[in-house]
Amino acid sequence: MSHSTITRDDATHLREPVVPSNTGEVQAFGHARRTTIALDATAALASVDSLNQLLADTVTLRDLYKKHHWQVSGPTFYMLHLLFDKHAEEQTRLIDLLAERVQVLGGVAIAMGADIAEATLIPRAPKGRENTEAQLARLLHAHETILLAARAMAKSTASAGDIGTDDIIVSDVIRANELQVWFLAQHVQ
Ligand SMILES: [Fe+2]
Repeated sequence: MSHSTITRDDATHLREPVVPSNTGEVQAFGHARRTTIALDATAALASVDSLNQLLADTVTLRDLYKKHHWQVSGPTFYMLHLLFDKHAEEQTRLIDLLAERVQVLGGVAIAMGADIAEATLIPRAPKGRENTEAQLARLLHAHETILLAARAMAKSTASAGDIGTDDIIVSDVIRANELQVWFLAQHVQ
């Protein structure tokens, strides 16, 4: 479609339209507030940066799963339709875990799609529909991108003394991603 056919009412009849404002920001992204969790401030800030990277990549992976959940086709449609949705739900749980850990550490969790798109290391997928083989390859690549980063972050957060973040990265992010890779990889071997 080369042009939009969407129509909408204009706002001229609204008596007091609400206008969004950018003057309400109280903490800049990339800055950490002081917290009372007995953790070194430099270690906390480093963890916030790592967690936001994992968060951006996990949101992107979750969205890839939803895209493929909707767009998959072929003889394995029903099986993959359900599997992709299950994995999307599991990634959504990780998203909340990662975002809230950022806030616990005094940081600001990356949240909006445009910011996620700028930050993610996962290549942008086409807007159009891909075949099943390409969908699986794209998902496996995204998982490996996350796992590569997560393994390095697990070591750095542990050596910096942030074992709470380390636990989330190992017990939740790495384990869940490894398991999902197993389920995907069985379809291509
Ligand atoms: Fe659905």
